[in-house]
Amino acid sequence: MEEKAIVVQNLGKQYPHVKAVDNVSFTVDKGEIFGLLGPNGAGKTTTIRILLTLIQPTSGETLIYNINTAKNSEDVRRMCGYVPQDVSADGDLTAYENVLISAKLYGMPAKERKSRIQEVLNFLELTERAHDMVNTFSGGMMRRLEIAQALVNRPKVLFLDEPSIGLDPNARRIIWGLIKKLRDEYNTTIMMTTHDMGEADILCDRIGIMNRGHLATIGKPAELKSAVGGDIITINSSNPNCFQKVKELGFSTITNSPDGHCDLIVNNGETLIPQLLDGLKARGIQVESVSLKKPTLDDVFLKYTGARIEEGDTYAETRRSRRAFTRRTK
Ligand SMILES: Nc1ncnc2c1ncn2[C@@H]1O[C@H](COP(=O)(O)OP(=O)(O)OP(=O)(O)O)[C@@H](O)[C@H]1O
Ligand SMILES: [Mg+2]
Repeated sequence: MEEKAIVVQNLGKQYPHVKAVDNVSFTVDKGEIFGLLGPNGAGKTTTIRILLTLIQPTSGETLIYNINTAKNSEDVRRMCGYVPQDVSADGDLTAYENVLISAKLYGMPAKERKSRIQEVLNFLELTERAHDMVNTFSGGMMRRLEIAQALVNRPKVLFLDEPSIGLDPNARRIIWGLIKKLRDEYNTTIMMTTHDMGEADILCDRIGIMNRGHLATIGKPAELKSAVGGDIITINSSNPNCFQKVKELGFSTITNSPDGHCDLIVNNGETLIPQLLDGLKARGIQVESVSLKKPTLDDVFLKYTGARIEEGDTYAETRRSRRAFTRRTK
């Protein structure tokens, strides 16, 4: 069997009041872009932090390029780059100086540093701004700089926690292009988390969806979407009994929020809508809107977690702090 870039085997992490990771197993191939998705508190960051040797698991084991992360943390850290969710660049230094600090932290020999720093700044398209203070950078440039810092040591595996958080669509597309280029040119294995289903769909070769510490499903985005099958009908009603009545009509709902919003997975949605609406009307439910579409990654997420992905507290907080940082330092 070909050696995997990442192996996670029966991984568990028990905190005093919560099992953050519960018997999770998966592998990531070399050169693969793998996305870990899941609602807030699903265990994504905990899994990444165990792989990066920042915390110890309670059970199971993880390997990076066949090296046991719990037993050989130094070797693993040398092979990995990490771009955390929160701001990690220093606004009061230049881009060059920021990457220099990372190079020193990685213990890179002095004679290699200059050319490596130039190489990564060039790769992230920051050469022209290399000697400008970071507090003059846009959010997208700052994120690129943080990726440059993680790449200066030429990691075999790069961990990206929410790579495009808080960025505008144009800056996001630039980051996506660079992540793909990194894989294509250097065969870097990339493991990322994201709340953005569009980003996961465009960027990831495979994704795993975590929910409450478990790995709910794993596969290529296209496979996961076709496994949902059928059509998605979304009904909006101001009547909170809507979902109850939909159930009485023999349909199974995948969401049933108390505000009268429900999503159903059905076959032949076009022909079922009239029947559904008539049935609801006969039961006194006024429907405000109804829509029909093919499954997206959002629906895959919904199926396995029972909720649409939301900008939960952690996400909103990170985005706020990133934006505030950019504003404050300008
Ligand atoms: N140091 C800790 N001590 C106690 N509980 C923790 C600790 N770190 C995480 N947890 C808990 O473990 C669970 C998983 O947290 P984790 O940060 O891995 O989730 P996540 O999927 O990364 O969520 P988010 O999308 O919010 O970043 C949560 O219930 C969290 O509160
Ligand atoms: Mg997290």
